[in-house]
Amino acid sequence: MKDIKRITVKQLFADCEGLTGSVVDVKGWVRTRRGNKHVQFVALNDGTSIKSIQIVFDLSRFSEEELKPITTGASIHVQGLLVASQGKGQSVEIQADELQIYGTADPADYPLQKKGHTLEFLREKAHLRPRTNTFGAVLRIRHALAFAIHNFFNDKGFYYFHTPLITASDCEGAGAMFQVTTLPLSDLPRTEDGAVDYSGDFYGKQASLTVSGQLEGELGATALGAIYTFGPTFRAENSNTPRHLSEFWMIEPEMAFYEIQDNMDLAEEFIKYCINYALEHCADDIQFLNDMFDKELIERLRFVTHNDFVRLSYTEGIKILEQSGRKFEFPVYWGVDLASEHERYLVEEHFKKPVILTDYPKEIKAFYMKLNDDGKTVRAMDVLFPKIGEIIGGSEREENYDKLMGRIAEMNIPMKDMWWYLDTRRFGTVPHSGFGLGFERLILFVTGMQNIRDVIPFPRYPGNCEF
Ligand code: 4AD
Ligand code: MG
Repeated sequence: MKDIKRITVKQLFADCEGLTGSVVDVKGWVRTRRGNKHVQFVALNDGTSIKSIQIVFDLSRFSEEELKPITTGASIHVQGLLVASQGKGQSVEIQADELQIYGTADPADYPLQKKGHTLEFLREKAHLRPRTNTFGAVLRIRHALAFAIHNFFNDKGFYYFHTPLITASDCEGAGAMFQVTTLPLSDLPRTEDGAVDYSGDFYGKQASLTVSGQLEGELGATALGAIYTFGPTFRAENSNTPRHLSEFWMIEPEMAFYEIQDNMDLAEEFIKYCINYALEHCADDIQFLNDMFDKELIERLRFVTHNDFVRLSYTEGIKILEQSGRKFEFPVYWGVDLASEHERYLVEEHFKKPVILTDYPKEIKAFYMKLNDDGKTVRAMDVLFPKIGEIIGGSEREENYDKLMGRIAEMNIPMKDMWWYLDTRRFGTVPHSGFGLGFERLILFVTGMQNIRDVIPFPRYPGNCEF
């Protein structure tokens, strides 16, 4: 091997013309090998790009024996001259001069030996699927979106605020929390009335993994002005759907002095920024997914970024659903918690645009949302997207101490856990708002994938906790 610096496949294609005629050094995993007795072609991918680089092995220089270990999945190191390609399908190729084999992948055992595996099959091979074109594309887009999110908020002067993953409060009040404990499960200490005695537990009280960083986020917003969180959240709800994970990432901006309109404006600008960022920075990967899985993907992404979202109240939304003449699996009436089929009817069939639905009945929303003057609805806002349904949930927050106490009492929320939250309303309370974007739902939309388990490297869902 000559002493040359390795170049990534991405760098190589970015500067094809400049590099043509020079000797390059590449390392990666073999996607395919084909050819004849005179020449062999290897597609090499190193994960930096959807594109693979074609490597040409001339059998006057390499023996068949030397090339034998180059099977799909093997890892190799090649040096050779970068030349304009004779063949169709690629602009340049490398004429191999030096070969080093790092690791073989026995075709008899390697699970990704064949092409065209189903996504279901690949879910069973989640430890290796990042090596496929599809998951490479999805995971690079995932990275780009995470980066875009930090960019967006940083440019706007929001502070990245780290909220705890282990918490003693249940933000959404749904009770779907994973408990965190060091108590001996086979011999739980009990109080006199038979309940579990947490006084000897690690934190001296019952603790769980958080379902949302919002409540702590409000502490940040009422001090720093505008913050955002971006971290994993955990929900122990038994939802076996293509849109639910039990461990998912959420982005939660929280802003002092924002009312519901400001909140909606921010949500719309934010989501459009993310989609545009991906279109601009992940063009090859999105094009690949468009061609392979969803021919309308790029068109749909452009459409969403070029059109205003429709804004209407829950009450108006219910009227449209009632008058639709459609027979839904779950009946529609004022007060119902909208199901995915209802949300998607509004978005995909009625408006054919993303919709921001506001002012939901207080009974179906969390305790912290600001009560409207009608006493019946709260200043909630859900952003509903084609193919996805709810992608964002948020609200203006109840900043009035007495009204908030009223809601807490009505909903039987244990007060002893909430004192610190209530202090934001006791000392220098301000109007404020925020929302939560489900990161994986955004990735679903941007990649056109159908199942949320395919947009996170290691999905967690009921019955699945491998690795
Ligand atoms: O609507 P949710 O439950 O809202 C909250 O948690 C608020 N505390 C947010 C806030 O106002 N700061 O969840 C927010 C979003 C949903 O719109 C959805 O995109 C996503 O989180 N989400 C899930 N994503 C994947 N799997 C699940 N089980 C999800 N549950 C919610
Ligand atoms: Mg919600």
